[in-house]
Amino acid sequence: METILIVDDEKNYLVVLSAFLSGEGYEALTADSAEHALEIVETADLDLVLTDMKMPTMDGIELLKRIKDRDPDLPVVMMTAYGTVEKAVEAMQLGAFNFVLKPFQNETLKQIISKAVSTYTVLKENRRLVEALEDRYHFGNIIGKSKPMQAVFDMIKKIAHTKATVLITGESGTGKELIAKAIHFNSPRRNKPFVAVSCAALTETLLESELFGHEKGAFTGAIAMRKGRFELADGGTLFLDEIGEMPISLQVKLLRILEEMRFERVGGTRTIDVDVRLITATNRDLKAEAEQHHFREDLYFRLNVVHIKLQPVRERSEDIPLLATHFARKSAEESNKGEITFTPEAMRFLCNHRWPGNVRELENAIERAVLLSKGSEITLEDLPKDLVSFSDLETPIDWEKLSNLPETLDAIEKRLIKKALSLSNNVQSQAAKLLGIARANLQYRLKKHNLL
Ligand SMILES: Nc1ncnc2c1ncn2[C@@H]1O[C@H](COP(=O)(O)OP(=O)(O)OP(=O)(O)O)[C@@H](O)[C@H]1O
Ligand SMILES: [Mg+2]
Repeated sequence: METILIVDDEKNYLVVLSAFLSGEGYEALTADSAEHALEIVETADLDLVLTDMKMPTMDGIELLKRIKDRDPDLPVVMMTAYGTVEKAVEAMQLGAFNFVLKPFQNETLKQIISKAVSTYTVLKENRRLVEALEDRYHFGNIIGKSKPMQAVFDMIKKIAHTKATVLITGESGTGKELIAKAIHFNSPRRNKPFVAVSCAALTETLLESELFGHEKGAFTGAIAMRKGRFELADGGTLFLDEIGEMPISLQVKLLRILEEMRFERVGGTRTIDVDVRLITATNRDLKAEAEQHHFREDLYFRLNVVHIKLQPVRERSEDIPLLATHFARKSAEESNKGEITFTPEAMRFLCNHRWPGNVRELENAIERAVLLSKGSEITLEDLPKDLVSFSDLETPIDWEKLSNLPETLDAIEKRLIKKALSLSNNVQSQAAKLLGIARANLQYRLKKHNLL
């Protein structure tokens, strides 16, 4: 039900109007002065204010101004007596939705109010949708309760509002781009562009023109002037992904630009100034690369002003249940399924897996599992078979210790069986299924390895 606040110093009007509007299906609140109205505006969730123009202490115009300062979208309809029409025009200029002349026809008032309320409803819905979209990058949506992730959140809070250059390192799929966006969307630059470039995807010449733009005719194929990503990111954030792959010659150029924040387009002479915050990311150990002269050390120091290191998922497995549940909920929503949970075995498996592809791999596995799951539960069988293939049992072969093949195979078999049992919470039928053998076969092997 929409709520309307009626403001008038004449109590009779309040009584009559609130009876009329309640009869029309609105919730009607009343205030006998503008001061009182402002108190209600502060606390109530209103859809419209209907106010008299002429009131003894604070008038309708002043009330309108104060309401608009607080919430520019909240519609305000003015009631005005004959003879004060100029005031009504002024109110419209100040953002009033409309005005009605006293005494008015109920039908006229009804139409104006219904139009104002429905316009506001649409506006509110749009605002909610935009907020929901932005939420994706809000760092409320980056999942992680582990210590390393909490440290990352603290760091983002500390540095987002600054212009400091940020280097994000971490294995593939650990969320580097997500963090870069979180920094941008939590910074004062949030309404300016976030521009991402992968330094690995392009050849040296193309990357240079991609970053700095080119003038017409700068090279074969440059048929028109083109702005580079640095220019496009002006006022916002430039995210250079896979910075470790940047050719040395471009590193030199980048270093110069970072120092001066000015450059020329390829083939151009005019100097262009920009205001860009730079965030870079890599899955390489950039410090080691710099020490071995594969990456310019001076540039490394420039980029490494703030360093955010994302731990691989296997080193923060306490985040896995949260992440898995989050992705399951998201996929279930997208495929119109109801609430989905995990069987304890499936969850234990997820927590024990090493996830070489980190969060991305986990996300893909869960998405697939949600599609495959028959009921409202994800079971071990719904998880990708190649995941359940004990790849995490692989250890480098130690040839010194390898005595003879049958003995070694026996040892490996024993480890596989133990792993399968622990993944299945000691339910033998489950373990047998994981190992692809019959239950009787498993029991025979359990005896053989003294595992009973
Ligand atoms: N902590 C997290 N919470 C929620 N989702 C996450 C988290 N970390 C990563 N993701 C999701 O995992 C996927 C991979 O993240 P992202 O692309 O940011 O990783 P990356 O480190 O840039 O990977 P790459 O090195 O392969 O480019 C994305 O869909 C991202 O939304
Ligand atoms: Mg990435």
